[in-house]
Amino acid sequence: MSTDKRFSDDVLISLDGPLGASNDAVVGPVSDFATDFDHTDERWIENPYPIWEALRAECPIAHTDRYGGAWLPTRHEDVSAIAYDTDRFTSRSVLMSNNRPPLDMAPAGIAPPISSDPPFHHEARRVLLPAFSPRAVEKLEASTIEFCDSLLDALEGRELVDAAAEYAQHIPVRVIANMLGFPQSDADLHRQFVHDLLESVNDPIEERFEKVQGLFMYLWAQIQDHIAEPQEDLTTYLINAEMHGEPLTPIHIAGTMALLLLAGIDTTWSAIGASIWHLATHSEDREHLANRPEAIPTAMEEFLRAYAPVTMARLVKEDMEWQGCPMKAEDWVLVSFPAANRDPELFENPNEVSIDREVNRHSAFGLGVHRCIGSNLARMELRVALERWLLRYPSFQLEAGREVRWSGGQVRGPRELPIQILRNPVPV
Ligand code: HEM
Repeated sequence: MSTDKRFSDDVLISLDGPLGASNDAVVGPVSDFATDFDHTDERWIENPYPIWEALRAECPIAHTDRYGGAWLPTRHEDVSAIAYDTDRFTSRSVLMSNNRPPLDMAPAGIAPPISSDPPFHHEARRVLLPAFSPRAVEKLEASTIEFCDSLLDALEGRELVDAAAEYAQHIPVRVIANMLGFPQSDADLHRQFVHDLLESVNDPIEERFEKVQGLFMYLWAQIQDHIAEPQEDLTTYLINAEMHGEPLTPIHIAGTMALLLLAGIDTTWSAIGASIWHLATHSEDREHLANRPEAIPTAMEEFLRAYAPVTMARLVKEDMEWQGCPMKAEDWVLVSFPAANRDPELFENPNEVSIDREVNRHSAFGLGVHRCIGSNLARMELRVALERWLLRYPSFQLEAGREVRWSGGQVRGPRELPIQILRNPVPV
C-alpha cells in the first residue's frame, strides 16, 4: 500500500459523485437527418458520406432533439471554427450521450487533457507531449513490427481471415498497454472498456456509469501496482509528473490513463481496418502499394482523410446564435472531422480516394488546441501495419457473401472485415 497520501482509497469516493443532468434516450430510425440526425442510425453506420453530402448542400448545420439537443456542422469552415473556439464551446465532455457531466468537473474534466478547457488544458497537455514525440515513437517501431509479424504468423496457411478482429484490433491494444505498463493478458478487457464506453451511448445512464467506475477501478489497481513497484512506463511517469510545481492529483492521473487507453485503441484499429478494407475493394491501389511500399505514407494520409475515424463533441457554453442557429447552453455539437474531410470547398473530388493526393490538409487528427497528441504514434502503427500486411499478403479481396460490419458511435471503423487471401496473385 502506498505511503503517498495522494493515493488513499478515499479518492475512490469521488467517483461516486453526482451523475450530472441526463435525458431519456430517443432511439429508433431517423426520420430526417436535417432535423433528427443520429450517429447511431444504421444508415449512418453503414455509409455516412451521402448523408453528410446532402446536409452540406441543403442544411450545413443540422439539428436533432435526440441526446437532449445537438447540432451537426458538415462544412470544414464550421467544424474548424468550432474546434478553435474554446471560449464558446467547451470540451467538458467530448462523447455525446444522454448525460452531461456535472459542471463542477471543470477545469480538468474526467479525462484530461481532452476534457479540459484552456488554460488548464495547456499544462495538462504539456505533461504528455514528451511521451509521444517522434523520437519516443521511433523507439516503439521495432517491437510493433515484431508484433504485427507474430499476428500474421498466426494466420499463416489460412485462406479466410478477419483483418479487423484477427489483425487490426490487436496492434494498438498491445502498443498502448506496453506504454502504460499494463499486463498484455488484459487485452480483452481493454477492448471491452472501449466497447462499453464508446459504442454504447444509448445504454441506461446507471449502466454507463457503472462501466466508467469499472474502468477507473481497474486503473486504480494499476496505479497501486506501479506505486508498489515503479516501472519505466507512462503510468509511473504520470505518478511522478508535476503541473505548476505540484504532483498531479490521483483523479487526474487515472483520467489521463483512461484517455490514453481509449483514445489509443479503437481510433488506430479503425484507421488500419478502413485502409485494409479500401485495399481489399480497390485492386489497383492494392497492387500499387504492394509493389511500391515507399508510396504507403502518402496513401495513408489519403486513407486518413477519406475514412477519418474520429468525430468529437463539444457542449455549448451559453445561449447564443451561431451561424444563424439558436444554440442553447448545454446543447451538444458533433464536431465531424470526417465530414470536414469530404468538403469540396477544401478538397478536389473529395469522394474520390486518390492514393497519390499531393495536397492533403486533412483534419483526421483534429484542429485547434486539442489536436491529437498520438498522431506520430498512430501514423507509425498504421504504416507498419500496412507494410507488414502487404509484404505477407500482396493479393487479397473481400470474402464473397460475407458482410463487413462497421462500428457505431463517434469512432468509425470496420469491426468485422472478412478477407480472402489470394494465393496466386495476378502479376502486375
Ligand atoms: C488514427 C488514429 C487516431 C486518430 C484519427 C485520432 C484522432 C484524434 C482527434 C480528432 C483528436 C481531437 C480531439 C478533440 O478535438 O476533442 C484527438 C485527440 C487526442 N488523441 Fe488521438 N487519434 C488517433 C490516435 C491516437 C493515439 C494512438 C493516441 C495515444 C495513445 C491518441 C491520443 C490522443 C490524445 C491524448 C488526445 C487529446 C489531446 C488534447 O486534448 O490536447 N490518439 N485524437
